[in-house]
Amino acid sequence: MIKNETISNILTRRSIRKYKDRQLTEDEINTLLECAMWAPSARNMQPCHVRAVMSKEILEGMNRDFKDIVGWDAPAYTNWSSQPFYQNAPSVIFVFAQEYKGVDGGIMAENIAVAAKSMGLGSCIIASIAELFKNEKGDKWKKAMDIPENYQFLISVAVGEGDEEPEPKERNKAQFKIIK
Ligand SMILES: Cc1cc2nc3c(=O)[nH]c(=O)nc-3n(C[C@H](O)[C@H](O)[C@H](O)COP(=O)(O)O)c2cc1C
Repeated sequence: MIKNETISNILTRRSIRKYKDRQLTEDEINTLLECAMWAPSARNMQPCHVRAVMSKEILEGMNRDFKDIVGWDAPAYTNWSSQPFYQNAPSVIFVFAQEYKGVDGGIMAENIAVAAKSMGLGSCIIASIAELFKNEKGDKWKKAMDIPENYQFLISVAVGEGDEEPEPKERNKAQFKIIK
């Protein structure tokens, strides 16, 4: 296999669900936003509006409304009753678009996740918070993030200094084939 720094960061990135308290520096958050900005988009439409939320008050408020909607112990990726949607990361980057542009949003999310890894930061891509924005309780938070009402949530990425090193989750190699 070919080895270089980019490939190594892609292969060793893991979803991180435990973070240190330290907030990201301005340089770190600006770099992540720049990497999101340079993600490719279909027909270069650049449909996404992106917000880096560094306010614990906003993240906690969103989490309260989110849990009111989904229930405090709804089964999900994590134990929601003990873990907030943002996995206690100090910052979350939210991606919205005027119509559903899931692929564009996903590519942006991965750019952020790999860039974070290359900077020694942890990340976790988060879709579960979509439930908040499907509900009218989400409107207040879109307003707080200066997102127009007709925009819909695509994806978010929690970022911060990781405080765990999870084992890699097995990949299903049989699903990958070369056809010659
Ligand atoms: C589109 C998408 C949505 C995800 N949403 C969540 C989420 O809401 N909560 C969460 O804890 N992890 C979420 N994850 C992280 C996945 O659970 C994780 O990527 C997967 O288990 C593989 O683990 P790894 O990232 O460590 O390789 C999401 C990942 C993707 C790609």
